[in-house]
Amino acid sequence: MQKTSKDTRIILDPLGYALGAEIRGLDISLPPNQKEVDAINAIWQQHHVIVFRGKRLQASEIVNFAQEFGQLDDHSSTPFYRHKDFPQLLQITNRSIDGRPSETRNTGRNWHSDYSYTGRPAAASMLYCDQRPPIGGDTMFANMVRAYETLSTTMQGIVDNLHAVYDISLTAGLNERDPDKTKEVRLLNPPIAHPAVRVHPRSGKRALYVSERVSHFHGMTRSESRPLIDFLCSHATQPENIYRHVWQEGDLVCWDNRTVMHIALADFDEGKPRHMLRATVLGEQSGFIVGEH
Ligand code: SIN
Repeated sequence: MQKTSKDTRIILDPLGYALGAEIRGLDISLPPNQKEVDAINAIWQQHHVIVFRGKRLQASEIVNFAQEFGQLDDHSSTPFYRHKDFPQLLQITNRSIDGRPSETRNTGRNWHSDYSYTGRPAAASMLYCDQRPPIGGDTMFANMVRAYETLSTTMQGIVDNLHAVYDISLTAGLNERDPDKTKEVRLLNPPIAHPAVRVHPRSGKRALYVSERVSHFHGMTRSESRPLIDFLCSHATQPENIYRHVWQEGDLVCWDNRTVMHIALADFDEGKPRHMLRATVLGEQSGFIVGEH
């Protein structure tokens, strides 16, 4: 199926039943005009993950494109992993940096929404593939609106009233990083509770906001919380609720962190380079800092 927007020559190809759409007909090396931004936002809101394929971009071009969709994070909550000239870009790479193994080679290995462990969880992320391994290195996305809507009304009522405590320590691979940097990143990001259902500020849609980085629900013990966290994560990540992106170099994949969670798969030979750059659009202030339960 193909649809053409009236105001621009944007062409849309849905990629998955639950979520995901490719956008063609736009040169993303140039900042989009307002009509294009509006058309992209409308598609994005409907499909949650949008894909621009195979356009080689400079770091500055990624930033220029991304900043049309909101204020970009300077990634100060994880300062060690930023691009040296563009703090608006996070380097997610297994290439060595300054002769040392990259600290971000294992980024995103469990289901999550970006920067959920901060007081300003990301609204959106835009991930550019500069270099991919010959096979694998895929990323999977789950539609959290659909995950919420397919719960029973009784379970919706339960999660509507919960706050999920996000703990950066549950970020997969954190313990394999430099212990001093990890300690600092933990101090910068103490455990924080966010509503377990996130309401999209534009569409008003309700999305489940629980991931594998949740330690417990506020006011409940960890053992009380665990079965519910496990159920909600497995409910959300059923195969029919997923889009799996197989990267090509030059792809820019953009997701809405308010309605999607994602995972970076270790389904590749880690001796082969995978080099990605991510711009992160800041979301609203949310949540409250909690002590350990
Ligand atoms: C991320 O979690 O933002 C990184 C995803 C990826 O590298 O595929």
